[in-house]
Amino acid sequence: MSTAASTHSTGLSVVILAAGEGRRMNSRLPKVLQPLAGRPLLAHVLDTAHRLSPQRILVVYGHAGEQVRAAFPDESVQWVLQERQLGTGHAVQQAVPHVPDDDTVLVLYGDVPLLGAEPLARLVRIGAAGELALLTMVPEDPAGYGRIVRDASGRVARSVEQKDATPEELAVRECNTGVLAAPARRLKGWLAQLRNDNAQGEYYLTDVIGLAVAQGATVTAVSLADSIDALGVNDKTQLAQLEAVCRRRAAQALMTAGVTVVDPARIDVRGSVTHGQDVFVDVNVVFEGTVKLGNRVRIGSGCVIRDSEVGDDTELFPFCVLDGAVIGAAARIGPFSRVRPTTALGPGVHIGNFVEVKNSTLGTDSKANHLSYVGDAQVGARVNIGAGTIVANYDGANKHRTIIHDDAHTGSNSVLVAPITVGEGATIAAGSTVVHEVPAGRLTIARARQSTLEDWQRPVKKPK
Ligand code: UD1
Ligand code: CA
Repeated sequence: MSTAASTHSTGLSVVILAAGEGRRMNSRLPKVLQPLAGRPLLAHVLDTAHRLSPQRILVVYGHAGEQVRAAFPDESVQWVLQERQLGTGHAVQQAVPHVPDDDTVLVLYGDVPLLGAEPLARLVRIGAAGELALLTMVPEDPAGYGRIVRDASGRVARSVEQKDATPEELAVRECNTGVLAAPARRLKGWLAQLRNDNAQGEYYLTDVIGLAVAQGATVTAVSLADSIDALGVNDKTQLAQLEAVCRRRAAQALMTAGVTVVDPARIDVRGSVTHGQDVFVDVNVVFEGTVKLGNRVRIGSGCVIRDSEVGDDTELFPFCVLDGAVIGAAARIGPFSRVRPTTALGPGVHIGNFVEVKNSTLGTDSKANHLSYVGDAQVGARVNIGAGTIVANYDGANKHRTIIHDDAHTGSNSVLVAPITVGEGATIAAGSTVVHEVPAGRLTIARARQSTLEDWQRPVKKPK
């Protein structure tokens, strides 16, 4: 992919504004950390910035600053503190001293997460040519956005915030996305002239537009074809709207790649899904983190799958929760199964309803079909874990391992107190609590012997 940086001679500095509190969110979590498709808003903007291959990325942070920085420990960006949030213009003022005069500056907003790299590369090209480039849009609902005011000949004159606009200006449908690009030297000059005599008492970045026009600079508006890409997130309603956009796009990508998605409005992809052919996904499935699905995998409704791999021809019945699991081919999981981290299930394994498996391996064709807990266990092939079998892996202080060899059967309602080994082909009688090694090939019974009292009589009610 050709990058914006390679198309102009000077360097590119991207400034991302992320210092605001996001009061309209009514949340303790700073706005730029609110999750969209499973990742903080700011992570989406950083991705876009990286795709432009800039010389430097400056992130202006301030409100809940340490929390914001801590969320991106591995980011190779320059963090610039804006101690008091005096407006978007003031925020950019904090960043530009770190930008060489000959650079082109692109300003992105931390709460505008869906912008693609192409329109931004266009802005950068215009900015690199010495002009002020703005990204504008015509959203369905302009409420809250700055409006682009044009002069009689149709040239951009300035941008006016909703709170400062006259009724005529409010009727304008062309809105400011806030995103702009300009030569650093000129931008610094305009920023130095900003004033805060407006409805919000803030230094608006958007005022540089009017200042640039007043000084005879060329101002070019690039209008986005699809305003959805530039929607900002100020409140939870807008966050949900963007989540719906992400959902639709993720579902579309899966369907284009051949996945049957029963209802694209009822699937969430909070991360990445790779898959084989003829995968079927029923309604209300949530994918999180990194998920790999083989060929012909079928996922029943209501499953939540996080950071897991599912092999060819495996079927997940409804309402399974998988987290950090590797599941082999032709397995059958659920309904209502929970598979927890560092579990590996071999081919042909069956895990049934109300069965929890944690940090365990189950070999080929082993089964735990009903109401069991299998934790910290190494289970061989063709093992049958009977209904209600519990692996008691925890003594109240430490976890211990259990080894169950090939072809063993555990009876219903048996308890295996770890650490313990069950030999190959062993059978444990129903209702047993085993605490010692269970020998191979034998039946082991560990429960009180059944007895019947021949002369026992049921008490009868005393006559009154
Ligand atoms: C801003 C624009 C508006 C545009 C809209 C597009 C201004 C004055 N207005 O309005 O024209 O239509 O975005 O979404 O720029 N921030 C800081 N420091 C501050 C203030 C804000 O870093 O002192 C950051 C915020 O964290 C946020 C971004 O700047 O990421 C935008 O701020 P916000 O208050 O949401 O601006 P809007 O009212 O949406
Ligand atoms: Ca905003």
